[in-house]
Order: sequence, then C-alpha cells, then structure tokens
Amino acid sequence: MAIEIKATGRAIPAKRLTNTELPAGIDTSDDWIRSHTGIGSRHIADDAVACSDLALSAARSALTFALEQDGVQEKTLEEIALTLDMIILGTATADYYGCPSTACIIQNKLGAKNAGAMDISAGCSGFIYGLEIASGLLSINPARKRALVIGSEVLSRFLDWNDRGSCVLFGDGAGAALLEKTDNPKRGILRTILKADGSGSDHLMIKRGGSRNCFKSGEVVDIHPHVEMNGRAVYIFAVRAMTEIIAQLMEAEGVGVDDLRWIVPHQANARIVSAAAKRLSIPDEKFVLNIEEYANTSSASIPIVLDELNRGGKLRRGDLIMTVGFGAGLTYGGNLIVF
Ligand code: UT7
Repeated sequence: MAIEIKATGRAIPAKRLTNTELPAGIDTSDDWIRSHTGIGSRHIADDAVACSDLALSAARSALTFALEQDGVQEKTLEEIALTLDMIILGTATADYYGCPSTACIIQNKLGAKNAGAMDISAGCSGFIYGLEIASGLLSINPARKRALVIGSEVLSRFLDWNDRGSCVLFGDGAGAALLEKTDNPKRGILRTILKADGSGSDHLMIKRGGSRNCFKSGEVVDIHPHVEMNGRAVYIFAVRAMTEIIAQLMEAEGVGVDDLRWIVPHQANARIVSAAAKRLSIPDEKFVLNIEEYANTSSASIPIVLDELNRGGKLRRGDLIMTVGFGAGLTYGGNLIVF
C-alpha cells in the first residue's frame, strides 16, 4: 500500500502586479528585483478574498481534475468531496487568528461532511509537512482512503509596503493535491524528511496579534501585522537547508540525479535554488521555477508548480520527483515522490 498524488489543482488571483507597477513610493527597480530574486511579477487577491476562498478554488480544481482520472467512480464534485477523510491546509495567512481553522471553513464549503480538517503552521514548508501528515493519517487507519492537502496564502495582506526588503518578494495563490491510497507498489510518496531549526524563529515572523504580543484595548496601532524578515539570514539558512535535504533524500533512497524527472523547490529566490544546485553539481534545468510570474507564495508555491507541470503534460505517471523547501519556523524538508 502506498499514498499517491491522484490529482492537483491551483487558484491564482487574476490581478497581476509587475515589478514596474509596484507602488511608486517603494525605492526599488525591476532590475534589482529580477537580478536579486528572479521575480518579475506577483498576483494579488482582491480585498474580499481570504485564504479560504483561494484554497477552496484550488481544492475544487483538484477534485474536478480527479473526476477525469482512471479508477475514480464518483461523477460529481459533491460526490467526490464526500469521499474525503482529511483536509489539511498549510498557511501563514489564515482567515482568522487561532480559531477556527481555515481548513474547517474549506471543509464546510466543499461539503466534505466525512472529513476531519486542520491547519498546520509550518511556514513555506507547509505543503511538504502536509503531504507527510496526510500520508501518515491515511496509512494508520485502513478506513481512510483520500485526503486533500492544500497550501494557500494571501501574503499581500501581511506585508509592510514600505519595507522594500520584503514587500517585493511575496504574492498570493493556492495549490492543492488529492492524495489517495493505492495498491500499486510502484507509485506514491517514497520518503519525506521534515526538519526545524527554531533558533532562527525570529528571522521570519509576523510579530503582532499572538499571545506574545497581543493587541490591547485602546491601543493605537500604526501598522497592521506584517512579515518581518532578516533576508540575509534566511538566505544563508535556505541554501544550506536545500542542499542538505536534497542530498539526504537522494542518499536515503539510493537515487541519482538522472533518476529524477524534476526537483520542485519552494519558490523564494531563484538565486537560492541556483546556489544549492551548484553546491550539489545538479544542473539548473532539473529545478522547476515559476517565481518570475508568481513571486513567493509560501506554502502554495510547490503545489502550484506541481499543478502546472501536471496539466502542462510535463509529469507522467511513474516519474520520480522531489520537493524541497524551507520557511518560517524555521522549518525545512522535502518529499521524494513517484508520481
Ligand atoms: O520563503 C522564505 C522567505 N524568504 C526568503 O527566502 C528570503 C531569503 N533572502 C533573500 O532572498 C535575499 O536575502 C533578499 C532578496 C531578501 C535580499 O537580497 P540580498 O542580495 O541578500 O540583499 P541584501 O539584503 O544583502 O541587501 C543588499 C542591498 C541593501 O542596500 P545597501 O545596504 O547595500 O545599500 C538593501 O537595502 O540591497 C538593498 N535592497 C534593495 N534595493 C532595491 C534590499 N531590498 C531591495 C529592493 N530594491 N527591493
């Protein structure tokens, strides 16, 4: 028994903001952003759109895709939603602080009446963590068959648009994967590594609003909760983390570079990916990048790439792929998957 990715989906807000369209007050340039990150534009959710809305669209996109797959008996979105046993959402930009979980809002709107639902807070590694958690929950109980893993972010709402070191980097979007148990021994998630280094927790955080820095009655707040980042420290950590995870996953499964169809990295900075590739002597072409279009969508970045590959005909059943990422926490990890 293995756990395979049966279908993928994504949701990208229509509004696209190129580097040259950024608010005039930001002291930056298209040239700086492209040369330091590889980012050309980002997509921004409308004011009325929250994390659960993007997540729901990505979830519906994955389930609709699944209805067209071999071996799927259900005929409608409503029917297949009822077969879900778990919904797991990775996000740093939930609809609400603390509770309810955004996953429960998705569960209700999807009509997934038989599913458990929960959010996980693992920063940009949320999807990587989510695959392993969902896979474990399916494996441990013979009655469970399907799980939906989603990464969804509305980061544009949690940025300080006066901080050029962070606001140019992020974008909004969501991606989803439907996991299903399979008897095919040649498919599924082969191995996952999940790691954390909490000593770097203050390098990337949204400081206000939690129990550590709670808002107080009568307090006047001059800036909304927003991402604060020590970009240089995260950069150094990220190159080390990616290098370590890729090497460990390959060694643990006895896999060579040529065995891998794609490496799907978290899309934070094209230079981070290049630096890790160079250290490992892996050609840049092995890594799939779409950061130029979407910027860093945190937990959504890996499933968005997976869906683009899948629908673009660049992923075939049986392809060996690797995900690898890092993020707030600091967290890092990767999955080795036979698609
Ligand atoms: O998902 C995980 C989340 N975050 C990340 O992965 C981010 C990891 N870090 C990075 O990607 C890079 O560190 C950044 C893209 C954030 C910054 O690139 P860098 O090459 O590390 O630049 P730096 O922070 O060393 O800054 C170099 C210069 C500074 O100016 P001075 O002090 O040399 O005069 C910055 O003020 O670049 C300046 N700078 C900018 N200039 C124009 C920083 N941001 C900008 C900007 N436009 N947007």
